[in-house]
Formats: sequence, structure tokens, C-alpha cells
Amino acid sequence: MSSKILIIGACGQIGSELTFKLRSIYGDDNVVASDISYSNLEIVNSGLFEIVDAKDYASVKTCVEKFSIDTVYLMAAMLSATGEKFPMEAWDLNMTSLFNVLNLAKDNFIKKVFWPSSIAVFGTTTPKEYTPQYTIMEPTTVYGMTKQVGERWCEYYFTKYQVDVRSIRYPGIISWKTLPGGGTTDYAVEIYHEAIKNKSYECFLKPDSELPMMFMDDAIKATVDIMQAESEDIKIRSSYNLSATSFTPQEVAESIKKHIPEFEISYNPDYRQEIANSWPKNINDSYARQDWKWRHQFSLDDITDEMLLQLNKKYN
Ligand code: SER
Repeated sequence: MSSKILIIGACGQIGSELTFKLRSIYGDDNVVASDISYSNLEIVNSGLFEIVDAKDYASVKTCVEKFSIDTVYLMAAMLSATGEKFPMEAWDLNMTSLFNVLNLAKDNFIKKVFWPSSIAVFGTTTPKEYTPQYTIMEPTTVYGMTKQVGERWCEYYFTKYQVDVRSIRYPGIISWKTLPGGGTTDYAVEIYHEAIKNKSYECFLKPDSELPMMFMDDAIKATVDIMQAESEDIKIRSSYNLSATSFTPQEVAESIKKHIPEFEISYNPDYRQEIANSWPKNINDSYARQDWKWRHQFSLDDITDEMLLQLNKKYN
């Protein structure tokens, strides 16, 4: 049976690339992109697009019914850094949108849900090296709190109401098409733009702040893979640890210097440093590798090659 897909938050960093990928797999007529506004014209003009307010149950339901949607990818969220500025708004958006979609599935309007969690579910008391799937989770950001409690609700809806919800804990995602918005890991995208434009970058994290990271192509592959896996292979219904690479700002700068020797980095840590300090350095994702055969492709130097190649085309 073919899928009829709705992507909520399709104008964002991950939603936009997911839209193009899902259209290439399932066909343009079977993938509806949606967002709260027309903020990404490439997406708006690329095919089926609807204005949907993820916080408004009726708005989501109307779109689901209009296009006979059976699968929803809920990519709308307020990320960690912006969430610290607007804690109540972050809580409201991240939780209300999740409940709206889970309840549509519970009431049989849709069959399958993808909802991303994050490394932000971990906190200062979590072991930072090779962080296990099951460990202490005391997130210190509102964003992390919404993702942690959201994971519990996903598992609850699966157990109590048989909702087929699937989730992965994304690390920082690096991409060149659409900018990220309001995350602590955003430096790892900005640095490549500034390297091409100005050959220098002032980083808001310290040189040795190691965080788990992943190239967009790997993140999209993981998303598609977990959604295409057989239901019985998805043994974790909260959210899977997911890992590709891990690096510090200093290591990205060194990787860039292999291509642009005159590139210079300086450091001016701000409030995001504290968030970064609370997160793992790297992640043990053995359950994802075992249960649904997750494999990543891109190392830091692969990411640098691709980012500089693509952004050079964009700016020059
Ligand atoms: N990239 C996200 C953030 O920094 C982590 O999920 O908030």
C-alpha cells in the first residue's frame, strides 16, 4: 500500500530536505509539505504545500482529511537555544504539536508517526562518553525537557493505544540547503558559511566543546530507514540513540583549513556554552545498528568536503 505523507515543519532545516527525499521515494502527489508560514519559497513552490498550525488540532486534522494522509512526520519544534529565551512557548509548541499528532493516530485518522527527539534529552548527570541508550536523563533545557517527556508519551501511546510512532535522537545536523534555527549545534553550519564568505568565524562555543554531529544525508537516511523498517524490528518506542561523528569547533576549523589554509577561528562563548556542557560528547547507538541496521556514511572530513563544495557553488 502506498503512503500519503504530511510533513509538518517542512520549511525548516530537516523538514525541507526530508520533503524532497520523500517525494523522490513516494512520488510528488503523495507528499504534502506544510508549515506555519511561507518561510521557505523553494519548498512552497516545489509541490503540494499547505499552511498548517501544528499547535491547532483542527488545522492539522483538516489537512490530514483533505489529502487522506496516513503518515505524519512532525518536524516543527523550537530548539534548545531559542527555547531558553522563550521557555513557555517552547513547551507549548513542542508538546501541543506532539499531542495533536499522537491523538490523530490514536483516533485512527493516521496510521504512522515520525517524531524526532534529540541529544538534548541528556543532561549534566548523564555519562558523557559513549552515552548509552538507557542512562540517567536530567535535561537542563526546556527543549530537552520537551523531548524527554515527549519520548515517554510516544512509548505510552504505543503501549496503551498501539500507535505506530517511531523516533530517533538526532545529534547536531549539518547541512547546506536550509539554515538551522535556534540550536546550540548551529555553529557547525555557520562556520562553513563564514569560511566561504569571510575566511573567518567567531564561534559561540569554546574550542574543545565536543558534541555529537551528523551530516544531513545521514540524518535523512536514518529517518527514512526507521520509517521503512518492519514494525516488529522497532523495539524501542521512546526514541533511539543515533550517532555518526563527534567533534569540537577546533577540529572543524582544522578540517576547513585543509581546504582554506588562511581560515581563522576565534572564540567568544555565550549562554549556549552551558547548554553544550550539559550534553554528551559522543553516543552509543548500538540498538539502532542492531534493530533496524542503521549505518552512517559521513565523517567530519567528508562533511567538510561536501559543505565547502556546495556552499562555494551557492556563493560564488
Ligand atoms: N541541534 C539541536 C539543538 O542544538 C539539538 O537537537 O538544539
